[in-house]
Amino acid sequence: MSKWSPRELSGLSKLEKYDLVRQNFIALADGEPNLFANAANLCALLTEYFNWHWVGFYWVDFQKSEKELVLGVFQGPVACTRIRHGQGVCGQAWAQMESITVEDVNTFEGHIACSTLSKSEIVIPIIKEGQCIGVLDADSENMADFDPMDQQFLEELTQTLIQYSVI
Ligand code: SME
Repeated sequence: MSKWSPRELSGLSKLEKYDLVRQNFIALADGEPNLFANAANLCALLTEYFNWHWVGFYWVDFQKSEKELVLGVFQGPVACTRIRHGQGVCGQAWAQMESITVEDVNTFEGHIACSTLSKSEIVIPIIKEGQCIGVLDADSENMADFDPMDQQFLEELTQTLIQYSVI
């Protein structure tokens, strides 16, 4: 388990934080096949190290004829439960199968505001065998809080999640 307190974390660079998140996450997920347990611990680690306003997962609900994303494990305030294909940042990242970084959520057409405190956002599609099965969504209370380094590490962490977990 992480031995870092928030005070000690404040002196670390973003790169150092992601490196520790990765190390801790691999230690937790190695030998644990349960997707929900691993996803929950990844949310907890990202919150511990980055303290974003909200971070969590939406998964494609393959049961419904008109496919939707449905809320998964997360850390932060309550959020909308279902998102249609192409709707909001999450639905667009799903439809395009590309990560989307939003510097200012107020300028993103169709952004779904779960909280007025959220100012910037990043959404990473989770791709398994060429199919998008869900997204990782992170919201920050600061403008332009996410950059290509976040995208690179969050894409890597979501791939690690699905490599360790049985889906
Ligand atoms: N803002 C997202 C909705 C999910 S919440 O931010 C948790 C969107 O536009 O898809």
